[in-house]
Amino acid sequence: MPDYPFFFTWSAQQAAKPIEITGGDRAHFTTSDGGTWLDLGALSYQVNAGHGRQRIVEAIKAQADKLCLSSPNAVFPAKVELAERLLALAGPGYANGGKVFFTLGGAEANENALKIARQVTSRLKLISRYRSYHGASMGALTLTGDWRRAPFEPGIPGVVHVQDCYCDRCPFGQRVETCKRECATNIGATMALEGARGTAAVILEPVPGANGVLVPPAEYWPIVRRACDADGALLIADEVLTGFGRTGTAFGFQHWDVVPDMITCAKGLASGYATIGAVLVHERIARHFDANVLACGLTYYAHPTACAAALETLNLYADEGSFANAARLGPVLRAELERVAARLPGVTSFVRSLGLLGVLEVEASPAAWATLGKELAARQLSLHVDGKRGTAIFAPPLCITEEELVGGLRSFGDAAALAFAPGALA
Ligand SMILES: Cc1ncc(COP(=O)(O)O)c(C=O)c1O
Repeated sequence: MPDYPFFFTWSAQQAAKPIEITGGDRAHFTTSDGGTWLDLGALSYQVNAGHGRQRIVEAIKAQADKLCLSSPNAVFPAKVELAERLLALAGPGYANGGKVFFTLGGAEANENALKIARQVTSRLKLISRYRSYHGASMGALTLTGDWRRAPFEPGIPGVVHVQDCYCDRCPFGQRVETCKRECATNIGATMALEGARGTAAVILEPVPGANGVLVPPAEYWPIVRRACDADGALLIADEVLTGFGRTGTAFGFQHWDVVPDMITCAKGLASGYATIGAVLVHERIARHFDANVLACGLTYYAHPTACAAALETLNLYADEGSFANAARLGPVLRAELERVAARLPGVTSFVRSLGLLGVLEVEASPAAWATLGKELAARQLSLHVDGKRGTAIFAPPLCITEEELVGGLRSFGDAAALAFAPGALA
């Protein structure tokens, strides 16, 4: 590999695996070596609209021609319309009187959500989960529970991590059929132990994504909502990965009967065609800043071309029924993953999914996971494989067809059977 004059992320530089993407079409992308890959991972989970969507590119160009520079307090049509559309997607409590704080990505969205929570409540503590990822900036990384937090501890003060909603390997030693949803009630108990009325916010991914697609039981979010209400803490849904149709609804929390106080989003917001994120703030929280200073700001707040890209992405979702497509294909993804698991007799494996977000978790040796990686590369299948955590995560563009999805999953099944066949296990 050439010694590139820039860093690759989350990697020892010598171990990085560069990829030169040259273009793409919906669920496929092409590479400079002539390859055409089926993208079952939406690159870094952001390409919900799919590759090569010219209408988004055209919207960016048209906006750049019209107005390409702005300042944080500038007002222009794309900014106003985008905010209105986002609040409408978030639903009751947001659509009338809610407000949007724009950012450049997901970490910044969480960073600003925690600042808003602390300003509104005048409290310090923040509760998040161990198997979570909330971004790489210092506050978001402290909220993060996975391995990426460790090198930067203690991070920002006041963050408390709690156990996960991991039904297949319940940290409370329970079974989902008979448990009392200890994973959810434990959050209220933790708030009390941390000092009643000391918690500014609880921040959760509706379905923890990169840490294993840990789909919660239906009661989980409502129990956490009630605990937050009882304590006066805010509830933040980190929808950076789950937002914009990934799980079959506009936002993941909409699967359950809850309304969070803030929603953070990025990735699918402009589907990767521009760098933009947002904090959607519930009306009753937003009102606080009518008379109090909002101590948050960014030079590139709501950049015009990013707003135009996001707006056109939302138009595309609406025109193509992208969220409904994810809901329709969810059971197909699930059935195909179960079919793969059935091809691995004698191997401990779990399947979890919601909409077009799914995981096959497999107990296997590092060598078996390395073999899987090679087999996937040979088949030009791109998805998120994490051998250390034993997961292969699926999150294709929402425009994927049933035929592409089934074909891709069957091909993945061939690779998995080869890699995880008992003979390949250490
Ligand atoms: C749930 C979640 N939150 C936050 C982030 C951070 O987003 P960004 O990389 O845009 O800062 C990610 C990124 O993977 C994520 O999955």
